[in-house]
Formats: sequence, C-alpha cells, structure tokens
Amino acid sequence: MIQINENYKKLQASYLFVEIAKRVAEFQKKNPDKSIIKMGIGDVTKPLPEACLKAFHDGVDEMAGEASFKGYGPEKGYEFLRQAIAENDFHSRGVSITANDIFVSDGAKCDTGNFQELFSNSSRVAIPDPVYPVYVDTNVMAGRSGVAKGSRYEGFQYMEGSEANGFVPGPEGVEADLIYLCYPNNPTGAVATKEQLQKWVDYALKNKALILFDAAYEAFITDPEIPHSIFEIPGAEKVAVEFRSYSKTAGFTGTRCAYTVIPASCVVWDAEGNEYSLQNLWNRRHSTKFNGVSYPVQKAAAAIYTEEGKAQVKELIDYYMNNASIILKKMKEAGFSCTGGVNSPYIWVNTGRDSWETFDMILNKAAVVLTPGSGFGQCGEGYIRISAFNSLENVEKAMDRITKALKS
Ligand code: MLT
Repeated sequence: MIQINENYKKLQASYLFVEIAKRVAEFQKKNPDKSIIKMGIGDVTKPLPEACLKAFHDGVDEMAGEASFKGYGPEKGYEFLRQAIAENDFHSRGVSITANDIFVSDGAKCDTGNFQELFSNSSRVAIPDPVYPVYVDTNVMAGRSGVAKGSRYEGFQYMEGSEANGFVPGPEGVEADLIYLCYPNNPTGAVATKEQLQKWVDYALKNKALILFDAAYEAFITDPEIPHSIFEIPGAEKVAVEFRSYSKTAGFTGTRCAYTVIPASCVVWDAEGNEYSLQNLWNRRHSTKFNGVSYPVQKAAAAIYTEEGKAQVKELIDYYMNNASIILKKMKEAGFSCTGGVNSPYIWVNTGRDSWETFDMILNKAAVVLTPGSGFGQCGEGYIRISAFNSLENVEKAMDRITKALKS
C-alpha cells in the first residue's frame, strides 16, 4: 500500500492564493455581470518590455536554425545572463558576486521553497509573521514542524512583525539555524535598513546560522539608503543566500525566470562539524532536479540589462509605483494606518476588522479582490494587503469602490 508523506496532513487544506481564487470564482459565478478588479495576488498586468520581447523572438528564431539551435543549456544558466546579472545587479552596487555564484531558475517561489531540502530536519527554523506562506508550507512538507495550532505550527519560531517594530523584527530572542527574511517585505511592504540587516548577519555569523534572503521586490526600492541586496552587508557573503526574480521587476510572472545567489564563501556543516560548500550542495541538487530555463527566456531576461531594457523596466516599475502611491494616499485619507507602498508594490492596511470578513465584504460590495492579512499568519489578522499591479484606471476605480465599502 502506497502511503502519503504524513507531513502533508498537517497542512491547511489549500494554499492561500488558491483559496482566494476559489472564492472569487464563486462570486463571479453568482454575479456574472460584475466586473471584478483583481488586486489580490501580486500578478503583473503590463506586457513584457519591448527589449525583452525582441530578444525572446530572436531566441525562438535561433531555435529554428541548424547552426543556432540549442538543446540542453548549462544547468546554472547561460554565461551571458549570469555575467550580466553579476555586473548589473551586484558590481554596480559595489558587491563582488561573480557569475559563478549565480543559479538561474524558473522562479523565486520554487527556489525559496526548494532550498530547505539541503538542510537537516533537525534544523531550527525562524519564520517571520506575517510571512509569504511558501517558507512555512515547504518546511512543514519536509517534516520540520509539529502539528498546526491555529494558523501556526509547533516547532517553528515566529518572528513577530507589528506596527511597533515597523514589521522588521530583530534577532533578539531567536534561536534558529535557518532564518527566512524578505525585504522589501511580502506582504507588509516594509523595508529593512543596513543596520537592521547587519544585526541579522552578525547573529548568523555568531550562531553558524544561514539567512535565506528573499529580495524578489528589490527593484521597487525608491529610498537610496535602503540596501537592495543582503550582500551589501559586510559578512553576509559567509552566511546568506539571496533569491531574486524577474516576475515583478520585468513582467515575467508568466514567462518564468529568476535566480539564486550563493557566494563561494558560504559554508554549512554536517553533524560532525565538517564543512561543506553551500554552492556545491545546491549545484548538486540543481543539476539533478532541474534542466534549466529555456534559451529564449534567458535571452529575454538578459535584455533587461541592455540600455533600452533598463529604461523600459524603469518605466514599468514607475507605473506600478504610481499606482502604489495612489493606493497609499487613498487609504491614509480614509483614516487607515498603512505600511509599504513606498519601496514596495504592496500596501498593508490596518482595517481593525477580521481579515477574511473584510476580504468577503469588499469582494461582495466592491467587486475588488484583496488579500486577507491573516492568510499570511496570525500577526496579519486585522490587515488587508492591496497590490499595485493593475492598470491605473482599475486602481482608481477600485480605490473609489473600496473606500465606499469600508465606510459603509
Ligand atoms: C503574492 O501575491 O504574494 C505573490 O504574487 C505570490 C508569488 O509571487 O508567488
């Protein structure tokens, strides 16, 4: 008799965004004439930048020629892309990451979800609350947690975010081997300063811990003082891995391309205290379980780093950040306390009401989809997350509808 992985029985019935999609589909079925505006899942709405499209087409054309055709690519990604990443995303900020430290993949969700399998099941895991649910669920699947207690799991350490700490909890009181950090934060939109990140790096150096740093939203940082990469923090190259994505940066949610950075100096240990290169371990995993991102997609991603690509990506980001500033302004005018929306496409709004009830009320009264804060953890109760990924016209329409619904 084939038996299931018992850890799956601990999970909540469905993934947050699947539950939201289910409720939205039911509402649409009952109200076929209502035009729903989606500001729930952070999915981009604008087309790929011209430069990426052109490179994408060129890549496809190359697949048509005998001489230019490509079969399997290098597992870590094509050198042309990894080199462009190292120069543009790191060297330009004074960070000495090399092409060799970079692993191209099909998504930061997959990488942040898969990375935990390199570590022992006895690793103590520190998870932010509120949190992007992938970090939690994948550690539950792997067997690092006990059973669910409400929206939490026994065995995890929760780093509580609140308005009091600006949704940037520090390492005080944490005893963990594996630490998940995400800045600009999903879902709160909060950002961490260099000093705040330095505390985490110092903690990891002192305790031989590892930071898994999700920087999927770094392109939305507008404040010049805020670090874009954990590797801007001295010592991080020994104790951190960073996840980046083109999904939100350049509209690649449906195209799929991302990358993970593991510096050569980053090591982990076995039970006997022997040292292992994290880069080698991930290389072993990546080359066994993954066959690379398609050549045309990597060509499209590399075009982000051309002069015209950079200008077009900036235009995209500015467009969404203009939406974010409108949402933030409207929510503040309506009297709600908000986080995010300045260095992030997410606005985290304290409605002071039950999150799922607010979600249902706004869906029913305003036909707008938001994300209930409690879907990101216990500390998200009372909040809703509004995503700036939509057209300006829809954002303006949605804000009118939401403010009316919240007042009623
Ligand atoms: C979100 O809405 O939190 C994200 O779009 C989810 C994701 O990137 O997987």
